[in-house]
Amino acid sequence: RPEPGKLLTVRMAASQQKLHRDLPPTELWTYNGSYPGPTIEARSGQAFDVSWDNGLPTKHFLPVDHNICGAEADKPLVRAITHLHGAKVPRKDDGYPEDWYVPGKSRRHHYPNAQDAATLWYHDHAMGINRLNMYAGLMGLYLLRDEHELSLGLPSGDFELPLVIADRWLRDDGRLYYPDSGDATAPWVPEVFGNLTLVNGAILPRADVQPRRYRLRVVNAANGRFYHLRFKDGRPFQVIGSDQGLLAAPATMRAIFLAPGERADIVVDFAPLRGGTVELMNDALPLMRFAVGQGAVQDDSRVPDVLRDLPRVTEASASKTREMTLDEYSDCVATPMLMLLNGKRWHDPVTETIKIGSTEMWNLVNLTEDTHPVHLHLVRFQILDRRPYDVDEYMEKKTIRYVGLAQLPPPHERGWKDVVQSYPGMVTRIVATFDGYAGRYAWHCHLAEHEANEMMRPFEVV
Ligand code: C2O
Ligand code: CU
Ligand code: CU
Repeated sequence: RPEPGKLLTVRMAASQQKLHRDLPPTELWTYNGSYPGPTIEARSGQAFDVSWDNGLPTKHFLPVDHNICGAEADKPLVRAITHLHGAKVPRKDDGYPEDWYVPGKSRRHHYPNAQDAATLWYHDHAMGINRLNMYAGLMGLYLLRDEHELSLGLPSGDFELPLVIADRWLRDDGRLYYPDSGDATAPWVPEVFGNLTLVNGAILPRADVQPRRYRLRVVNAANGRFYHLRFKDGRPFQVIGSDQGLLAAPATMRAIFLAPGERADIVVDFAPLRGGTVELMNDALPLMRFAVGQGAVQDDSRVPDVLRDLPRVTEASASKTREMTLDEYSDCVATPMLMLLNGKRWHDPVTETIKIGSTEMWNLVNLTEDTHPVHLHLVRFQILDRRPYDVDEYMEKKTIRYVGLAQLPPPHERGWKDVVQSYPGMVTRIVATFDGYAGRYAWHCHLAEHEANEMMRPFEVV
């Protein structure tokens, strides 16, 4: 919890961490020696600086020597830059992928915290290598609080638990494994899924909780895995917030589907489970266990029916509409399949020049067969709807013909977002106001292996 106006120093370093009592310690790359890194707590309106010191070794410990983003292939493999995901910050402080620096160097980022309370997180974003750096452990939580949220009486203190969820492939000897395509001319691995899931850096951890309400700050911090989270006994929980803070009203759910990069702010009541246990599951696989105490407790927390004033953004508020395709491309010669936004690669000239302060609608036209979690830096947005369209006709004529009814986002997706699941066969329409700062920022698929293989583009606010 940095003092306002003060400098906080966070150091990236290699360290060993025990992920399970039956396993030898695992080598990770961490912020301040732990995975996840330290949780930074900030207050809206109170700015401070963080010095992100790169104390990493000069050789990567993951058995990958490919440096897949063509234009960076001559650059040192160990490089880092920290991005604060979900934060509205000046361009120089954003952790732009090309602002990376090597071990021994450091970089100071200014965080104005001039935005609503939200579950933010920080992670590595260095060009062409962040999929490995994140997998190695370079991430942590950043909780931004504001007066309004603090006045609601939500569970707090010991009754608020962060859950950083991410899968990893661990070998029997405890070492991290990251797959290699085995083909030097086609080094890209399209997606990486682990053999187990870590919650807060532990395999199947157990939390001793009291029979009362808890607030869970969930982050899907995986490179590529989507999580379908539910409690084993099917108990309902209240979703009170999404990526960019509180919803207008709590949404009662029994399961939630989170893509890489997405967050969910959840309140669950363990009171009916006094003396029992319940597991948090991903589909049918347990991720962690809550052991609920026997003793009666006084629970003064509450979840108000109205969480905040949150007007729905309308289509009419947008002064410009852009059609943005999500596509796969293969020229079958030099490169493996590429994942492209608007048919362009990262280093192609900027095509999205946006007037500062203007509101735009982006229609994400997914031409692939997968869901992609699309993330925009700098801005928060709302999801207008998702509309089925004729994909073949689009491929041929480049025009959208809708073939079904628009689907409004479900209640838990009706707040401010910074990652949206773009479904196959659908046009996902989002609206954002590009205010705050001018400059060149990134937008990308948050599936780390897609991002590294060209599913990332710059946009320029002028
Ligand atoms: Cu969470 Cu551009 O990243
Ligand atoms: Cu981000
Ligand atoms: Cu993707």
